Amino acid sequence: MTKNNNHIRQIEECVVFLHERLPFIPPLVIQLGTGLGDLAEQVQPALILPYNEIPNFPCSTVSSHQGNLIVGHLHGIPVIILQGRFHCYEGYSSKEVAFPIRALSLLGVKTLLLTNAAGGLNPAFAPGSIMIFRDHLNLLGDNPLRGPNVEAWGPRFPDFSVPYDPELIKIAQESATACGLDKVVTGVYACIPGPSLETPAETRWLRGCGADAVGMSSIPEILVARHADMNVLGLSVISNVNDPDKMQPIILEEIIAAAEAVKPQLERLIIEIIRRRYVEDRTR
Ligand code: HPA
Repeated sequence: MTKNNNHIRQIEECVVFLHERLPFIPPLVIQLGTGLGDLAEQVQPALILPYNEIPNFPCSTVSSHQGNLIVGHLHGIPVIILQGRFHCYEGYSSKEVAFPIRALSLLGVKTLLLTNAAGGLNPAFAPGSIMIFRDHLNLLGDNPLRGPNVEAWGPRFPDFSVPYDPELIKIAQESATACGLDKVVTGVYACIPGPSLETPAETRWLRGCGADAVGMSSIPEILVARHADMNVLGLSVISNVNDPDKMQPIILEEIIAAAEAVKPQLERLIIEIIRRRYVEDRTR
């Protein structure tokens, strides 16, 4: 069996399993990144599936990431929470990283909201800013859509002229204002493979390329979501801001602590976004 046939079979097995187990299919999946997994505690769960019980799901090797798929209601709104994600630096291909999103897209989930922690590159950003993705640079050197295309899943050459849903960006900005959050900005997210952090020269180069923030996650999932015609909203917590002329060591514990400090604001923002999207407009 070819590698691609194997991938298709693995996805199909997973979809059949989830179809049988999920009590309902929410319109929205929220994927939570480093230090941001606690939103799940506000969910009234209908079903919690540890990743290792879901056929063919990858399992996270990073201790700051829990691995659960939770189906339930967040302030009355049906959601799936992916608590924990996979990264290329763990050794996964980007296809494997995006596996959960491919499976959920085939179940009919229409929107992906994802969060991560990122390093700021834009000197106007401050630690604790929340950046709404406006665009991205995929510097992974990999793409989950490489290989034979499954036409039923999406087009061979998906259009990326409008990568992030303008309406979701607008809702996120209005929600930030409504929540009184003044450090919410939009920007371009650059995804590097990691796990090594940026050198001063790389930081300077990324800035010159137009990146506002840099991280090691989320783009594989976003590429698959857009291929499957899902709407995407990306939110980065800016945990540190890197200046190529005054680089400071970046310490994981400090990134997690910075993400934790912004968590209450991020949670309020997400709840306001989904309230505006799904309660004020029930047509979705
Ligand atoms: N670089 C890459 N990834 C990151 C950073 C950073 O500075 N901060 C948090 N995640």
